[in-house]
Amino acid sequence: MNNYGLGGKVAVVTGGASGIGRACAHVLARSGSDISLWDLDQAALDVVAKELDAFECRVHTAVVDVSDSAAVDAAMDEAVTALGHVNVAVCNAGIGGEASSSGDYTDEGWHQVIGVNLDGVFYTQRAAIRAMKAGGRGGSIINMASILGAVGFATASAYTAAKHGVVGLTQAAAWEHAPDGIRVNAVGPGFIRTPLVEQHLDQATLDFLGTQHALQRIGEPEEVAELVAWLASDAASFATGTYYPIDGGYLAR
Ligand SMILES: NC(=O)c1ccc[n+]([C@@H]2O[C@H](COP(=O)([O-])OP(=O)(O)OC[C@H]3O[C@@H](n4cnc5c(N)ncnc54)[C@H](O)[C@@H]3O)[C@@H](O)[C@H]2O)c1
Repeated sequence: MNNYGLGGKVAVVTGGASGIGRACAHVLARSGSDISLWDLDQAALDVVAKELDAFECRVHTAVVDVSDSAAVDAAMDEAVTALGHVNVAVCNAGIGGEASSSGDYTDEGWHQVIGVNLDGVFYTQRAAIRAMKAGGRGGSIINMASILGAVGFATASAYTAAKHGVVGLTQAAAWEHAPDGIRVNAVGPGFIRTPLVEQHLDQATLDFLGTQHALQRIGEPEEVAELVAWLASDAASFATGTYYPIDGGYLAR
């Protein structure tokens, strides 16, 4: 198992109680980072916080809805107070949302998906930039996009628009905050075996989606977390403003 040498890092992970966020928290903690874990539900956060005991890191948890900018700002202040500073932010919380075609998509469904998957990343990234500048250590922000940050997918117009937005937000912030020593990158997973897909798709659909990847399978959350941990590390010192697909070859067509 790789150790990315993250001693001295303090990482905020949003959506950290499940799926890719949980896997990121594990790999970051295994590599020596302290963790501020954010999600909607304290009980779910407590389960993952207990898992992280195995890595002997410091863990802070916050119940926060990332679509609420005031709550995000308060949670970032809390994380800094609890853990001393923040120099890694994994802006990962996201939802699948309404599945319908663009001609039928509802206002409510649109605003819900954009609110969490785009506004939520913007609010978390903004709070992280402010905390990193105040901390004076620079930092690394990793925004969770998707393969749908690069291509479209039927019945997922809001999700696709949000993830393309995340890629743009990442590129702009990378240019703005390079002088502050802050790197900003986006990660684009293919279909990954997490509750987000397993709760919405039956096995036949998951099997079909597997065939849409060159590797003929969907991915595991840990396979995304390895890339996130590398981007968080000082080994990625020349990486900024880039969208990194990690997709088993989905986009390679
Ligand atoms: N699973 C995939 O196939 C896949 C592929 C590409 C990108 N992604 C992205 O990866 C990220 C994580 O997804 P996942 O598959 O691990 O899903 P998941 O459902 O397993 O985990 C998402 C977590 O985010 C939390 N969350 C949802 N809304 C929130 C909010 N408003 N505020 C705070 N927390 C909130 C949930 O409670 C949950 O714990 C998402 O941004 C998703 O779009 C997933």
